[in-house]
Amino acid sequence: MAPKSLGLWMLCLWIQEAVDAEEVCGNYTGIQGENIVLRCCYHGEVFDPTMFRVQWQIKDNDECLVEAHLPEQNNPPQCEHFKNRTELKDYLDLRLRNIGQEHAGKYLCILQRKKGEQFQFHFKGLVKLDVAAKYLPPVITGPSKYGEDMIFTCNSSNGSPEPTVYWINQTDNSHLSPNGTIKIKQRNGTFSVSSTLIIKATSNIKLECIIKNEQLNESLNATYIFDSSTSSRNSSNNQHQTSMIAISILATGIMIIMIILLICYQRKCSLHRAYAEAPIGVEMS
Ligand SMILES: *[C@@H]1O[C@H](CO)[C@@H](O)[C@H](O)[C@H]1NC(C)=O
Ligand SMILES: *[C@@H]1O[C@H](CO)[C@@H](O)[C@H](O)[C@H]1NC(C)=O
Ligand SMILES: *[C@@H]1O[C@H](CO)[C@@H](O)[C@H](O)[C@H]1NC(C)=O
Ligand SMILES: *[C@@H]1O[C@H](CO)[C@@H](O)[C@H](O)[C@H]1NC(C)=O
Ligand SMILES: *[C@@H]1O[C@H](CO)[C@@H](O)[C@H](O)[C@H]1NC(C)=O
Ligand SMILES: *[C@@H]1O[C@H](CO)[C@@H](O)[C@H](O)[C@H]1NC(C)=O
Ligand SMILES: *[C@@H]1O[C@H](CO)[C@@H](O)[C@H](O)[C@H]1NC(C)=O
Ligand SMILES: *[C@@H]1O[C@H](CO)[C@@H](O)[C@H](O)[C@H]1NC(C)=O
Ligand SMILES: *[C@@H]1O[C@H](CO)[C@@H](O)[C@H](O)[C@H]1NC(C)=O
Repeated sequence: MAPKSLGLWMLCLWIQEAVDAEEVCGNYTGIQGENIVLRCCYHGEVFDPTMFRVQWQIKDNDECLVEAHLPEQNNPPQCEHFKNRTELKDYLDLRLRNIGQEHAGKYLCILQRKKGEQFQFHFKGLVKLDVAAKYLPPVITGPSKYGEDMIFTCNSSNGSPEPTVYWINQTDNSHLSPNGTIKIKQRNGTFSVSSTLIIKATSNIKLECIIKNEQLNESLNATYIFDSSTSSRNSSNNQHQTSMIAISILATGIMIIMIILLICYQRKCSLHRAYAEAPIGVEMS
């Protein structure tokens, strides 16, 4: 049967693996839920698909076949979490769809070349894949009073790997150390983060909370501004801010229009009634 002969073929490869050095093809950072193409960095003689076998597998996991191109043979069964997600591009490169944390790791692309009736080891490339996820824009809540102190919380979630959290006093751009930061790993591998800042109650505050995903080199921020002299408070994050302002302007606008309409309606109605009733009165007479 196909799986058995494949098993035998794989076994041959692994014995050779110990002997043949692998070439480092590259490191990739994929984003959870997106697609990625991992390049097999073979650059030898012109690639003829009828002359080569190509196999992608997980390094140090003999059991897991990711994808393969086997001329003169049916495609072998793939291991579970690669089913329906893979495709070979130009016979060599591996395209992965909708990647998740379970796809992070080291991959080998292994080439065998036909020599007479047999296939012999030809090339082995190593590819490393990290899977990151983008954090949601942080939200600052607070302050709640705690004696002489004020407590602020900055929350974000849905990202990976673990973020770095910074609090900044925007008045002088200094860093403030949070009094506690909790990072919880969810079942799907993403992290939720909640950071608490306790400061002495003051009348003027400009705070910023930054969530940084080092792997994606992506920073998201939220700000909280309270100014007692104008008695106005500003809490925003970089995505919700404009929509919140837009909503409040819209709501105020709608209320003003409704009041105007109401006044107009009452006036017009009495005018309208006067005109409408006149001809009826005329006709009747
Ligand atoms: C890939 O990552 C490994 C370990 O994470 C590192 O040692 C290596 O230098 C990286 N290679 C490249 C090409 O960035
Ligand atoms: C495989 O993917 C296709 C399209 O992406 C989908 O229609 C099909 O239901 C999937 N099959 C399985 C077994 O997940
Ligand atoms: C922020 O910086 C200003 C100016 O240096 C300082 O007066 C204020 O106390 C600082 N706020 C906090 C919470 O550290
Ligand atoms: C919060 O942290 C700051 C800075 O580390 C510290 O000065 C302050 O005493 C802490 N407050 C509480 C209530 O732990
Ligand atoms: C991961 O799990 C959390 C909590 O269960 C959920 O809110 C979030 O949408 C999930 N994220 C992804 C990318 O599946
Ligand atoms: C922030 O996260 C913490 C810990 O997950 C949670 O207890 C708290 O309710 C969250 N706050 C908000 C405003 O979502
Ligand atoms: C990270 O992003 C910043 C600004 O967005 C950029 O200046 C910097 O070069 C980036 N660093 C890396 C390693 O990509
Ligand atoms: C906060 O986010 C906004 C919008 O992405 C950006 O323009 C601004 O530079 C950020 N501020 C800091 C201090 O990173
Ligand atoms: C509140 O934020 C808006 C928009 O960023 C800004 O125009 C306004 O000056 C801020 N108000 C205060 C009191 O800082």
